[in-house]
Amino acid sequence: MAHSPVQSAGNSPAKTALTAGQTYAWCACGRSATQPFCDGSHQGTGIDPVVFTAEADADVWLCLCKRTHSAPTCDGSHKKQPGNE
Ligand code: FES
Repeated sequence: MAHSPVQSAGNSPAKTALTAGQTYAWCACGRSATQPFCDGSHQGTGIDPVVFTAEADADVWLCLCKRTHSAPTCDGSHKKQPGNE
């Protein structure tokens, strides 16, 4: 089944403090009101969040444009969007 279009939630990544051993659900659809994390708004889109466990206490840059190829972290893809070079 085809899924709904991914929506951008921002034109730059979100610096996010992660805690070692904690599990997170990164929003992949762009619809969450609690970016960069999932709030369940993806229901009905056919898109699922990316669930991951932090390996260390660290500040990481989590993708908001939702075009990264290294989810959940930013890979610079937001710089390739029109008007955001
Ligand atoms: S709200 Fe976007 S993946 Fe859950």
